[in-house]
Amino acid sequence: MTLHNADHVVVVAGALYDRGRLLAARRSAPPELAGRWELPGGKLEPGESAEKALVRELREELGVETEPGERIPGEWLLKPGYVLRVWTARLVSGEPAPLEDHDELRWLGRDELGSVDWLDVDRPAVDAVAARLWP
Ligand code: CDP
Repeated sequence: MTLHNADHVVVVAGALYDRGRLLAARRSAPPELAGRWELPGGKLEPGESAEKALVRELREELGVETEPGERIPGEWLLKPGYVLRVWTARLVSGEPAPLEDHDELRWLGRDELGSVDWLDVDRPAVDAVAARLWP
């Protein structure tokens, strides 16, 4: 299926930033990931571009409209066959709320990025985001 880009399933995540802060979301499921923090996002649907998927996932999960920016260089292996790719995203309208998949959100400034327990895969991704947002 077109969920596959070359031979992996692509998961997109958003580095949503607003007024100098980055949004972190705490997962509520599945049990093995609950309580850990991530950049919100999800899997591409068949035929969907990464940017479309990102806008859709952030709308579903957070109830906001966003505009994708640039891809953060790099990709991170989630599990065999699954890769995480990250785009910056600008908040266009709405106030993010943990509608689906998350139970808490936090806006983090540059000096607060280490204050939450990121998912293992998100840790290097967040480092790459920080290098881009706060060069
Ligand atoms: O919402 P959807 O079911 O499309 O995807 P998801 O469950 O949010 O994410 C798919 C997989 O990617 C899960 O195994 C997540 O743990 C992982 N993921 C991650 O490690 N870091 C992210 N920032 C987003 C997803």
